[in-house]
Amino acid sequence: MDYIISGGNSLSGEIAVYGAKNCALALFGASILTDDDVVLHNCSDIVDVVNMLLLLQSMGKKVKRQGDTVTLCGGLTSTCAPQALATLLRGSALILGSTVARYHQIALPLPGGCAIGSRPMDIHLYGLQALGVEVLNAGDMVSCRGTPKGAYYKLRFASVGATENMLCACVMAKGSSTLVNCAVEPEVVALEQMLVQMGAKISGVGSSELQVEGVEKLHGVEFTVIPDRIVAATYLAAAAATLGSVTVTHCRPQHLGAFVNILSKGFDVDCYENTVSLSSRNIPNGYGRVETAPYPLFPTDMQSLLLTLAACSRGQTIVVENLFENRLEHNASELNKMGADITVKNNAATVIGKRLHSSTVAASDLRGGAGLVIAALAADGVSTVGGIEHVNRGYVDLAGSLNKLGADITEKN
Ligand code: EPZ
Repeated sequence: MDYIISGGNSLSGEIAVYGAKNCALALFGASILTDDDVVLHNCSDIVDVVNMLLLLQSMGKKVKRQGDTVTLCGGLTSTCAPQALATLLRGSALILGSTVARYHQIALPLPGGCAIGSRPMDIHLYGLQALGVEVLNAGDMVSCRGTPKGAYYKLRFASVGATENMLCACVMAKGSSTLVNCAVEPEVVALEQMLVQMGAKISGVGSSELQVEGVEKLHGVEFTVIPDRIVAATYLAAAAATLGSVTVTHCRPQHLGAFVNILSKGFDVDCYENTVSLSSRNIPNGYGRVETAPYPLFPTDMQSLLLTLAACSRGQTIVVENLFENRLEHNASELNKMGADITVKNNAATVIGKRLHSSTVAASDLRGGAGLVIAALAADGVSTVGGIEHVNRGYVDLAGSLNKLGADITEKN
């Protein structure tokens, strides 16, 4: 699918944010820990969410959707994840810890790398081994067997997914566990909160060191998926790139701190309880040097949004991508087709702001695609952005949302 985008309109108005994909996927995985009803509100209906639910259903979980509420219940009838479904999304890896915790075995086809990097699973698998679980990693398939026993485990990197899997593996382990150097992204903290509400014994919630006392059983829960901070940032970036004035509602400003700090260098940004408003003064003089890092520092998932804002600024910006080894090059080359001046050396992009012009570009990953759409909104003329199927994995009707704010985007299959 392509977007045909007529650029140059300044966006304005108000737009609401929906539930976070990366929160919903983790909570779906954790639902395996109980047969009781796990009722999740604010679940967006996007491709990755749909595919994760299909994967769980294929393994026996009962799934019911009523509007934005998804109810998961019942137990797994199989601990072998079907290859066709498991490889549709990276999030499928998030059934690993909970399935081992509850059923003491799993066969999981690994989704492998993607456009942004190789995305290995070593931190997850070494962690399970630390809990005494036998891991057979045959490259594109991993099999685990054994009952997790409480242990000490220090993550070599604060991996979001590995933290989520280790948490789920520890909550029903025999004995207590200490997990050090855990990720503290809001989506990870939401999982910790839901697990506690299910009866897990976790101390240090929200911190990078977690103490977990294993329990025999976890019970059902009703929980609300947190707002998607990356979607909120996407709307703000679209407003900024088009020198518009937009209010984003139903979000958590406290989850957007690093991005708002950067935007504030060139725009008036006001945060209230669950809204963030951006209004434009004039084209910013670049954003200085920005490095991606684990939360609460500048998120890698917002890097492509910043690259676009830097490309259409009036000064120099250095963007350093420290998390994924291949998350700069593609978008830089596509933006350069639109008149940007971006030079990438190793994991750093030097961007000299320019006035962008229309072109035909293609997305190769979810967040990069959003960055290219925003660049087309800012460019003069009519652009084509291909690869929108990547964007649809993480956004609900991005074109429709942006058109509500005054954009001119039409879809072409
Ligand atoms: C989660 O991916 C998100 N996905 C990603 O969002 C996000 O970019 C990433 O966290 C970082 O914030 C979901 O939550 C479904 P990591 P995850 O493990 O858990 C390396 C999006 O667009 N690593 O924190 O896979 C890894 O290669 C997606 O919504 C290992 O080396 O990210 C990467 O370089 C994209 N070994 C870095 O750590 C491991 O065992 C961060 O990965 C695990 C990770």
